[in-house]
Amino acid sequence: MQLIDGKAVADQIKKEIAEEVAAIKAAGGKIPHLAAILVGHDGGSETYVAHKVKACEQCGFKSTLIRYEDDITEEQLLAEVERLNNDADIDGFIVQLPLPRHISEQRVIEAIDYRKDVDGFHPINVGRMSIGLPCFVSATPAGIMELLKRYDIDTKGKHCVVLGRSNIVGKPVATLMMQKANPGNATVTVCHSASKNLKEMCLQADIIIAALGQPDFVTADMVKEGAVIVDVGTTRVPDASKKSGFRLNGDVKFDEVAPKCSFITPVPGGVGPMTIVSLMRNTLLAGKKAIYQ
Ligand code: GUN
Repeated sequence: MQLIDGKAVADQIKKEIAEEVAAIKAAGGKIPHLAAILVGHDGGSETYVAHKVKACEQCGFKSTLIRYEDDITEEQLLAEVERLNNDADIDGFIVQLPLPRHISEQRVIEAIDYRKDVDGFHPINVGRMSIGLPCFVSATPAGIMELLKRYDIDTKGKHCVVLGRSNIVGKPVATLMMQKANPGNATVTVCHSASKNLKEMCLQADIIIAALGQPDFVTADMVKEGAVIVDVGTTRVPDASKKSGFRLNGDVKFDEVAPKCSFITPVPGGVGPMTIVSLMRNTLLAGKKAIYQ
């Protein structure tokens, strides 16, 4: 069994990005600038956004954090999105999700100029990804593909079972895994809450990508000997032994599943660090106008 060290790969990619940014700076080019809008004080969102700001520093990017209380109206938030769309210094920006219930996330996502949508959530980017055109690919699926690539994991013709059908992970990673590319070119089955014979499906899988958000869902009896396991789960569960009072728990029961695998991502330290680094890479592409003019 080989552990997939997402933290080490992410650190390496950040180094590569920082070197490229230093070269851009030395040549008198524009430093990539990422802005993030954070609404309210959700604990998870605060942590994620703080990590994104820190990653920007490590990559040599400029970053701007824009905070609002959770009583901001949808109209005010849409006006801020429009302001960022028109700010020539900002190459890309994100609106951290989830948003308060009185605001339509979809309306906000669609208001973002797709050329600055470094989250890859705008329907234009999602659509372009699904037909294999250059676009911003959303961060978690892009991070998973990069890990498979850097560990030289063979996906061609393999049976990949994706657990979960979210717009952020399940659907896009299924699309990328089936695309005629390397990594990719897999036979993909997507399972979700209404799927029958889920255990039997998993037992047939060469690769399982677990993105359900249900702690310890995948157990050893669901996994074929030699399978590759990618665990996208990051559920906060109470843990008195931690200073924060919680720990991040994956969707896979790691201790019993790991001995059966050829490769497995841990939680934390697997997919998580790669997600942020993919956002950094999209920001670099946006800064260089490498995808859209
Ligand atoms: N909330 C959870 N993951 C993400 C993400 O990748 N981007 C944004 N904007 N919000 C999130």
